[in-house]
Amino acid sequence: MKIITEVEAMASLCRGWKEKGLRIGLVPTMGGLHEGHLSLVRAARAGTDVVVVSIFVNPTQFRPGEDLASYPRDIERDMSLLENEKVDGMFHPQPETMYPEGYRTYVEVHDFQDKLCGAVRPGHFRGVCTVVLKLFNIVRPDVAYFGWKDAQQVLVVRRMTADLNLDTEIVALPLVRDPDGLAMSTRNAYLSPDERAAAHLLSKSLAEAEAMIAAGETDPRAVVARVRNVLAAAPEIEIEYVAAVDTTNLEPLDRIVGEGLLALAARIGKTRLIDNILIHPKGEAPC
Ligand code: PAJ
Repeated sequence: MKIITEVEAMASLCRGWKEKGLRIGLVPTMGGLHEGHLSLVRAARAGTDVVVVSIFVNPTQFRPGEDLASYPRDIERDMSLLENEKVDGMFHPQPETMYPEGYRTYVEVHDFQDKLCGAVRPGHFRGVCTVVLKLFNIVRPDVAYFGWKDAQQVLVVRRMTADLNLDTEIVALPLVRDPDGLAMSTRNAYLSPDERAAAHLLSKSLAEAEAMIAAGETDPRAVVARVRNVLAAAPEIEIEYVAAVDTTNLEPLDRIVGEGLLALAARIGKTRLIDNILIHPKGEAPC
């Protein structure tokens, strides 16, 4: 595996692969790798000829006061996990490489960026889109792999890719969970044992909602109320939002009839966690 820290070195390696007619798969990450990330890497390995994984804790998607400084970083461990997956290139730039002195340009996906997580973290998706577009321009991937764990991120990146006529296919893969249902996340490392025990209610609440919908419930208010009710069992869980939304515009659903997204964000102590399920009331297979 080639380890690259400079933009031009990464771009020229990718140009070389392209000239040989190889299809490039990109998995953008912030490191602190776990099985959720590795599921994307394996899909890239299976779906494309060469696989690039970026590891970059992107400062522009963190707000002041968020966990940029404390975000778990373990590049040696990440490197050996990626070696094991037979990744071809790891792109690990420094912040000043991606945002040199004088940097001024940002990408925004209006409306989408202000809803759900974007309402709580203004500017977050502007930072995500900016770094993802930069990575796309450096690597020129044929396919880029994202996880439904960050459902709004998938929808925002898909919107950006379509709106800006980018020549990259966006593949979104299912959320990977711990055995007790907790969505895998680098931030789970922040949880104390008691907080970790309470955190399983997030996925439990969504599983109950899913069962209600499968049993025929079509009122999103009833579904959201059930989720809130389950979460209320743990006083340490502070809900940021619970919402059933349309995946085409992230607007609240009036009725659960077609495809939708049931998403939540909550704080447990100092840790912010998100979880979601895709709603397929007609029993369609998830995308
Ligand atoms: P990060 O949180 O490191 O996640 C990288 C990718 O892994 C994202 O596409 C995310 O949705 C996916 N992922 C994380 N946990 C997952 C899980 N439990 N199951 C499935 N997929 C999971 O998301 C980011 O980094 C950044 O915003 C980034 C896109 C790299 C831009 O900086």
